[in-house]
Amino acid sequence: MNLDACTALITGASSGFGAEFVRQLAPRAKCLVLAARRRDRLEALAAEVAREGLAVHCLAVDLGDEADTERFLGEVKVLGVGIDVLINNAGLGDHGLFEASEWPRVKAMVDVNVKALTRVTHALLPPMVARGRGAILNVSSIASLLPLPQMAVYGATKAYVTSLSEALRAELRGTGVSVTALCPGPVDTEFAAAAERAGSTGAQLAPEYFKISAAQVVGEGLDALEDDRARVIPGWLVFLTMTLTALVPFFIVRFALNRRGRGYAGH
Ligand SMILES: NC(=O)c1ccc[n+]([C@@H]2O[C@H](COP(=O)([O-])OP(=O)(O)OC[C@H]3O[C@@H](n4cnc5c(N)ncnc54)[C@H](OP(=O)(O)O)[C@@H]3O)[C@@H](O)[C@H]2O)c1
Repeated sequence: MNLDACTALITGASSGFGAEFVRQLAPRAKCLVLAARRRDRLEALAAEVAREGLAVHCLAVDLGDEADTERFLGEVKVLGVGIDVLINNAGLGDHGLFEASEWPRVKAMVDVNVKALTRVTHALLPPMVARGRGAILNVSSIASLLPLPQMAVYGATKAYVTSLSEALRAELRGTGVSVTALCPGPVDTEFAAAAERAGSTGAQLAPEYFKISAAQVVGEGLDALEDDRARVIPGWLVFLTMTLTALVPFFIVRFALNRRGRGYAGH
């Protein structure tokens, strides 16, 4: 999939990876559709990347709300721009013990990370298949590759995203539509602050040397999309760590997970 002159829809475009996807696609795309709740952020970003020959549409939507998601999909249809690149990036996390989690946050994770991603893909995929051209980049996480105590639901939602991506990729073979799962490690965006619970001490989730920039994550994600790769783990150290971990027998991994258990907490 060549991204030149593409028409891309990016969810969660108001900050972090989403805003960076917009910045990196803007010099090449023909049309960008930006979606998130914070319309002011989307409009500021649209003004920042504006150039002749690029159309940018800002659509405010709460992807945690089923009715609002349907309204948003109707707006996308009315735009009639022919989305050929879908970047399912909107998402949120939560740190801490499951038993102490707040239900609205847990529900929002499932609704945005799983339900809305599935619904948006379900709505935008058929026209891509009909045109015989398209690419979907699902922003998952390394948390999808390993159960994560104290991020249990978040990791489970991302396991869904990676699994869905791999299965759809196989289903779509030969249709001209590709699916890629982007599995980043920890990156400084607004994600950690949004995932923090009230009263949390803001514990570091990962050492600084393990972190890479949002720009690198997005650059490697877009390269993987263009190269039609199934999965990408950006950053060589993160890639190496996850690749080696995958080789460890699961009973040993489980031993390490049990040791972490209730011991680590951002609260
Ligand atoms: N940063 C990391 O360490 C990391 C690592 C691996 C994977 N990820 C994944 O990367 C993706 C982007 O996260 P980020 O790091 O860029 O975090 P971020 O800066 O907090 O961005 C999250 C984006 O999702 C949007 N969003 C959240 N809830 C929404 C809702 N109900 N409706 C519509 N949009 C919603 C936010 O927009 P509004 O608030 O304006 O609605 C925002 O644009 C997420 O899927 C996350 O799980 C992040």
